[in-house]
Amino acid sequence: MAVLVIGFFALFYDGTGFDLKKSKLLPDLNYKPDISQGKSKYQSTCMKCHGKSLLGTETGPSLLDNTYRTSHHADLSFYYAVKSGVRQHHWKFGDMPMITGLSPERVSDIIAYVRQQQKLSNIQQ
Ligand code: HEC
Repeated sequence: MAVLVIGFFALFYDGTGFDLKKSKLLPDLNYKPDISQGKSKYQSTCMKCHGKSLLGTETGPSLLDNTYRTSHHADLSFYYAVKSGVRQHHWKFGDMPMITGLSPERVSDIIAYVRQQQKLSNIQQ
């Protein structure tokens, strides 16, 4: 029995399997996001679709829409959107492609910037 149990863990535990951080989706838990860095990364990687003031364009929705408040789109959905892209489901803008070249820390900065702008626009959290 013991052998079976150990065998089971060996099968699934490859040293990275249970560690989200190593999957490079999320930053270190102690990471403190930098809003101004987030703003500049937003402008260089997200703005062309989500708009200069986060109000959207012809190719992407406004991130200041109530749909994107924290309780409906938690931070995790931002990390996934950047890492894997998004299939069109809420709107008719088409799919969002995956965005390469951003570390989880930079995504965390962008999220902090977006959340700040949502707050300033009185989007409920
Ligand atoms: C090429 C255009 C494009 C770019 C660039 C882009 N997006 Fe998007 N994004 C979209 C579209 C289109 C959707 C809406 C998909 C739908 O729900 O129909 C979307 C949806 C999202 C969502 C919602 C995900 C969900 O789970 O519904 C988030 C969060 C998001 N984008 C964040 C970002 C961030 C952060 C960046 C920059 C790092 C970015 N996007 C860059 C087009 C883009």
